[in-house]
Amino acid sequence: MSDVRPAVGDSSWFTHDRFGLFIHWGIYALPGRHEWVKQREEIPDDVYQKYFKHFDPDLYDPELWAQATSNAGMKYFVVTTKHHDGFCLWDSKLTDYKVTNTPYGKDLIRPMVEAYRNAGVRVGFYHSVIDWHHPDFVIDDVHAMRNHPDRAKLNEERVQARYAEYLHGQTRELLTEYGDVDILFYDFSYPSSENRVGKGRDDWQSEKLLQMVRELQPNILVNDRLDLMDVDGGWDYKTPEQFMVRDWVKVNGEKVIWETCQTFSGSWGYHRDEATWKSVNQLLTMLIDTVGKGGNLLLNVGPTGRGEFDARALDRLNGMGEWLKRHGRSIYGCSQAPCELKTPQDCRLTYNPDTNRAYIHVLNWPIKRLHIEGFADRIEYAQLLNDASEVSFGSPSPHEISVDPELEGSVALDLPVIKPDVAIPVIELYLK
Ligand code: GLC
Repeated sequence: MSDVRPAVGDSSWFTHDRFGLFIHWGIYALPGRHEWVKQREEIPDDVYQKYFKHFDPDLYDPELWAQATSNAGMKYFVVTTKHHDGFCLWDSKLTDYKVTNTPYGKDLIRPMVEAYRNAGVRVGFYHSVIDWHHPDFVIDDVHAMRNHPDRAKLNEERVQARYAEYLHGQTRELLTEYGDVDILFYDFSYPSSENRVGKGRDDWQSEKLLQMVRELQPNILVNDRLDLMDVDGGWDYKTPEQFMVRDWVKVNGEKVIWETCQTFSGSWGYHRDEATWKSVNQLLTMLIDTVGKGGNLLLNVGPTGRGEFDARALDRLNGMGEWLKRHGRSIYGCSQAPCELKTPQDCRLTYNPDTNRAYIHVLNWPIKRLHIEGFADRIEYAQLLNDASEVSFGSPSPHEISVDPELEGSVALDLPVIKPDVAIPVIELYLK
């Protein structure tokens, strides 16, 4: 859409595909209590090392992952190549702190990229600019060693610029050794403020970094976490995380390309004991709500230390895929509906500008009639999307108007009393 801030990279597939899988995987899957466990519990390197020593995901089968992802209706994936703890999932030449030195002994990223590409799923890399393992990463107020009694002394040895070199070098590896990469998701900047010593663009040398990224992969889409929000071309899309936005995301009053990332249960890394798992219904509502506001949903799985998506994750992915199999038309290629089409009560709207069809997602099934505004004389045909059964429509009856005069000019859809047997029914409107 022309009123949206353009990306530097290629966003055409991104705003069409709408739904992707985030994968947070690393040695933090072993403690199984959040990917920030090292920082939260201030675990020293020598203690955290036990997870490195015991990391052996023997059941890892990236083809199964790619299958589960594609069956869920997801069109791209973004995997943590390195998270804040510094552990690398690929065979980086720039460090020993990598999967090939664990008992598992093999690169995790290459077979993953291959399996996903073969399944027709696009490839994205998440990369942490933060690193609580690297000896040159200056200890700040967010670091796992922030309360270390010798913090100042330890920092004397540390040269942040050397770390930046490492960061740039690793980015170069990731963007030259794995073919075309569609997305780069850097995480994250937290510039120093009055009450916190943090890090931002100078520490990462963000501008130089981004320049290299764009040179190596001109089509790549880069997220918004390098602390370059005010720089022209400094980011391609916004990434609101773990909350639902109220409307299309804007920056300086301008609509932008955006993607919200969300967890199933709170933690990004595998969390054994978390009980706050969202239901399939809630997750579908998130997806629909997001697309209806012009955004993408990146939904996260934290695989186990054995290398599997656990049963809870598979249950959600299967449930979403089951729905998308019949309702993908209301998601892919869709966006916010033109404002004159009003969202009916208890519903969410999406719209496909290429086919000129509107989709009413009925979150709470009404009794027989659904009145919709802004559609008068615009509907050519209407049907339930799950089974292509016709939905008849017309003007509200004189009786309805006599008790509710505001219905005048609306369209009344006749719905079956019994809710269609799908998680969220959708009415497809072919518009004139
Ligand atoms: C946050 C967290 C992190 C997670 C990320 C996902 O910034 O630091 O653990 O990887 O969000 O967007």
